[in-house]
Amino acid sequence: MDLVDLIEKKKQGYSHSKEEIKYIVDSMMDGTALDAQLASWLMAVCFKGLNELETSDLTKILADSGDKVNFSELNEVVVDKHSTGGVGDKVTITLIPLLAAAGISVAKLADRGGRSAAGTIDKIEAIPNFNTDLSAIAIVNQVKNIKAVIASQDKKLAPADRKLYSLRGQTATTDNDSLIASSILSKKNACGGSNIVLDIKYGAGALMKTAEEAVHLSNLMVKIGNNINKKITAVVTSLEEPLGRAVGNSLEVIEAIEFLKGNLKDGELAYLTYYFGAITLIQLGLYNTVDDAVDYLKTLVDNGSAIKKFKEIIDAQNGDSSVIVNYDKFELPCYKVEFKSKKNGYVQNINAHEIAMAAKELGATRSDKSGLIDHSVGIYLNKKSGEFVNKEETLYTIYSNDEDKTRIAQTHCDNAFVIGDAKPSINNLVYKVIGIEEEDV
Ligand code: URA
Repeated sequence: MDLVDLIEKKKQGYSHSKEEIKYIVDSMMDGTALDAQLASWLMAVCFKGLNELETSDLTKILADSGDKVNFSELNEVVVDKHSTGGVGDKVTITLIPLLAAAGISVAKLADRGGRSAAGTIDKIEAIPNFNTDLSAIAIVNQVKNIKAVIASQDKKLAPADRKLYSLRGQTATTDNDSLIASSILSKKNACGGSNIVLDIKYGAGALMKTAEEAVHLSNLMVKIGNNINKKITAVVTSLEEPLGRAVGNSLEVIEAIEFLKGNLKDGELAYLTYYFGAITLIQLGLYNTVDDAVDYLKTLVDNGSAIKKFKEIIDAQNGDSSVIVNYDKFELPCYKVEFKSKKNGYVQNINAHEIAMAAKELGATRSDKSGLIDHSVGIYLNKKSGEFVNKEETLYTIYSNDEDKTRIAQTHCDNAFVIGDAKPSINNLVYKVIGIEEEDV
């Protein structure tokens, strides 16, 4: 086989066999392929596409390129949840203990975040000493012992995806559905969970900009899931504005703890945590309707089981679980500045992209892939869309370690908020559910 011929073949719009895709991936891994050739092939894929079979083959080949976590000794279903990510998205941190409190085995193996948003691992590491660097054996043992783990995805899992994903980032080839689906699902395949619940987000703060794009990607991922023997349900959700009120690592974990303690009954975080919990229970055949499943999950928050399970997870991973009762145990920033509204009115919209830029400026996300992040900084949205704010009332609060950065973040936050006279109608967060038979979702 010859790589140039394979690039030519895709350029002409022909399909690859599994052997051809394996040849391309192997050439990347053994270093015989030039980055220029891989980039050229990726661009040809962006223009001519991969069909469902090619996408499934690429997924399996990327997954098989490294180690795999194996939960087979547990003899039970292990659930994994993945979000395409977005500003303020801390649903994984609330959902994992909640599901484990319901007796479901859950293993969340996640990546660190990229440039635009922090990832689950970045956020959970805001808990002092929380160890996310677990071996495959430790991951399986923890799920066996306490039903839940939140660990970072070892570099040995799907290493070919890591390489290809990085090349895609450098060559404007990230936004192809087949490449996205194979990238995410190869990692999910290597992480060992049998059942996967996907949150595919769209909107100003998300990877997909429109609901239609997100539905297209979701349909593809559910089909590829079937082809690789994973049960996948995809929920298409809107992320036009930050999820919840907290953006920034420690602040987000505190918001998650508040939910798990039963102090946050309303709002997007509570709604989506219960919704995803319910969809998981329906996927597992334990409930038929979202309403019934949500009623059950609420009892686990109200009776303290969910926060107790979160404490067990923190203790098992050597974290300081006293943060649950004492938020001062989180790293604290130098400044906390409240910014007031310049007029009366209803918040019409909070642009997630502007808030992401503010968080990045403060240091809550990386300015380059290898860089460190500051867990202590962030933005708290005192007002959210649909809420009334009086002139001189606090609109948002910035937590920062640098006065100059605070000023720049303030400009982004001011740009983000739109305030008007009329009470806006708030759109549904959940647009569509794909991949389960349900009576009432
Ligand atoms: N996340 C991934 O892991 N891969 C993609 O291609 C997009 C988002």
